[in-house]
Amino acid sequence: MSMADSARAEPVGVIGGGRMGAAIAQIFGGAGHDVVVVEPNETIRAGLPARVAEICRARGMAEDAVARVSARVTIDDALAACAMVIEAAPEKLELKQEIFERLDEVCGAQTILATNTSVIPVADIGARARRRERVVGTHFWNPPYAVRLVEVVQAAATSAEVAARTMALMKSVGQMPVHVRRDVPGFIGNRLQHALKREAIALVENGVCDAETVDFVIRNSFGARLGIMGTLEQSDLVGLDLTLDIHKVILRDLDRSTEPQKLLVDLVATGRTGASVGRGFRKWSDAERDELRGRLDKALLGRPAN
Ligand code: NAI
Repeated sequence: MSMADSARAEPVGVIGGGRMGAAIAQIFGGAGHDVVVVEPNETIRAGLPARVAEICRARGMAEDAVARVSARVTIDDALAACAMVIEAAPEKLELKQEIFERLDEVCGAQTILATNTSVIPVADIGARARRRERVVGTHFWNPPYAVRLVEVVQAAATSAEVAARTMALMKSVGQMPVHVRRDVPGFIGNRLQHALKREAIALVENGVCDAETVDFVIRNSFGARLGIMGTLEQSDLVGLDLTLDIHKVILRDLDRSTEPQKLLVDLVATGRTGASVGRGFRKWSDAERDELRGRLDKALLGRPAN
């Protein structure tokens, strides 16, 4: 029996049954694991079976995952026998530290303690756990059943064995793990994504173009290629001498803000927080927002691995 097969039967825990936690629970439940979700909010906890069923239907799967997912209010002995517990609670360091301290007390020695943090260093989150060699990052993307990449982050204290077992478990449930060998904030994907976003905001802030134009350019120029070819492959394909010549001119001019930019801060301060309120970088109607979300889900679910 392979490591992945033996892990398959073992229960898994998920801390936080919100947007990411419910989807992660469906992924493991759908792959045959019993899943214990810890969710303190009564309404969200009560809605969990319906949410898991909805994801099963979106994935074209039978709904047997629903019966494998059970929910609890607090962390307790129900998590002791889990192969892995994945924390998907709010992105607040203090809260995550408390959760890991508690998990470390409750879980058996074999349980891997994983965090789905978007940007907080894994070492900081595990700082109050005694056995830090079993603390690892598992950064899923939203929605995780359609964007299947998982960044498995090995912090300085994480053992190589824990990182390898985490990679195997992610593969065994159909996710696509990559090994991040250093615990840098934002790991790989979010560093790249927010480097691009910083420059996008600067272009609008500096009056080069409006927000709609930034996104039109991204979608219809290099963005059209990105789903097929990575950025370094693209440089290799056109020749690195060209990239070198371009960098000699452009790097000194790119935005290097080390704090959130004024445009973003002002939009948030004036309540223009995005599509859900009808105004962010651009104006949104409810119909436009729903149409884009629907189109995105459809395209992502139909997308082959690449
Ligand atoms: P969410 O707000 O939808 O879910 C968080 C859930 O945790 C809520 O249901 C909340 O009631 C629950 N919670 C609050 N205190 C708790 C506690 N003490 N113990 C257990 N559960 C508790 O948030 P979301 O979007 O699911 O994000 C969760 C984590 O995943 C965050 O760290 C976030 O940065 C990360 N993440 C989010 C992504 C996204 O696109 N939404 C993508 C990748 C990572």
